[in-house]
Amino acid sequence: MTQAACAKKTDILIEGATIISPSSSGADERITVVDKGTIAIDGGKIVYAGRSPAPPEFHNALKRIDASGLIALPGFVNAHTHAAMTLLRGYADDMVLMEWLQEKIWPIEAHLDSEDVYYGAMLACIEMIRAGVTTFADQYFFMDDTARAVRDTGIRASLSRGLIATSPNSSRALRENIELCEAWDGEASGRITTMFGPHAPYTCPVDFLEKVMEAAEEHGVGMHIHLSETRGEVEESRARHGGMSPIELMDSIGLFEFRILAAHCVHVSPKDIEILSAKGVGVAHNPGSNMKIASGIAPVPAMLKAGVRVGLGTDGASSNNNLDLLEEARLAAFLHKLANDDPTVIPAGQALAMATLGGAKAMGMDFEIGSLEPGKKADIILLDMNKPHMYPKHDLTSHIIYSARASDVTTVIINGESVMEDGVLTGIDEQEVLRKAEEKAKALVAKA
Ligand code: NI
Repeated sequence: MTQAACAKKTDILIEGATIISPSSSGADERITVVDKGTIAIDGGKIVYAGRSPAPPEFHNALKRIDASGLIALPGFVNAHTHAAMTLLRGYADDMVLMEWLQEKIWPIEAHLDSEDVYYGAMLACIEMIRAGVTTFADQYFFMDDTARAVRDTGIRASLSRGLIATSPNSSRALRENIELCEAWDGEASGRITTMFGPHAPYTCPVDFLEKVMEAAEEHGVGMHIHLSETRGEVEESRARHGGMSPIELMDSIGLFEFRILAAHCVHVSPKDIEILSAKGVGVAHNPGSNMKIASGIAPVPAMLKAGVRVGLGTDGASSNNNLDLLEEARLAAFLHKLANDDPTVIPAGQALAMATLGGAKAMGMDFEIGSLEPGKKADIILLDMNKPHMYPKHDLTSHIIYSARASDVTTVIINGESVMEDGVLTGIDEQEVLRKAEEKAKALVAKA
């Protein structure tokens, strides 16, 4: 072969990693493990992932990463959060949900400004990248500023403007969500996508939801909504809407004809589960938040059995209190074993699948992220196996869920770009973000 024929180079070649990934073709999301494998990345996408050596056409790479002693995983997907709430981390804990919201969170949120949200979201993006999260779904306000943080940090996100019909600025909020879709959908090399963010059925009456559906239809995007988080919310819905649960109500108005990402789904009936499965609704399960606020235990094993697309979310950092999705995967496995009095429930492989491909499915993005397979976006994380808690190496999938830590993540590649290498964030002044976030949070508390 002449030099000219070899000139085509792939962008990145990751060599020697133990590749662990769910497979989107398998109905049961079986985890595959390839020892000392190779991943080739070109044009932001995975072009090869499998045994070494890779086919000859991939040998010539602009950049090579020696990943021997490292595990390669698809990046974690945080399917539900409110990124800028990092500013309120530790501000109000150990309170009853409605008191926590009405006395602490809502009053202080009324003082938030655009720069607060930018630095809160920057802090969140940095924390997530360090924990191996490569995609998140967000619902908050000042979403232009969250979008700027996503653009500036290199992470991938689906953003929605939180809409509360009962608030006096609800029409303006809806307009802002429309503007968010128009300004940001597909931006940052396609890393940013958008949704509409009706907060919940109890804050958004049907006539308002109809307006949101109209706008979502017009912009061809989905919706991110909180559903059936608390028992009280379900009881109120049944009392007000002829016995219908929030999920039955949403189904009756045609909401589920759209691509829907539903956070929580804690208090759901067998009939609700049937609807979620039949309509392909994505569910973001937030075990940490649900436990901390004592909302209840979502029947996740039953949802998975019924074929519901279940991913994992951290929820906002003021109800968790971190954005560590690996911790959520472990909590999900532990919580449902305990709740079902059955240690075989949510085995390690299933927890890992929920943290990656499950989240991608819940967000309607499994055609492009969630597994390490040719054709998918190159969202890849590398974990260091050379840690005491990773020995002996009987079962690495088990180690990831039951023993690994977020701080084991050394390298993060998103959209084929290296955003963290050997523990160092590229292109971000991390210390400056930490300093500004602290400053903004302190000033905010002083105003409340
Ligand atoms: Ni939430």
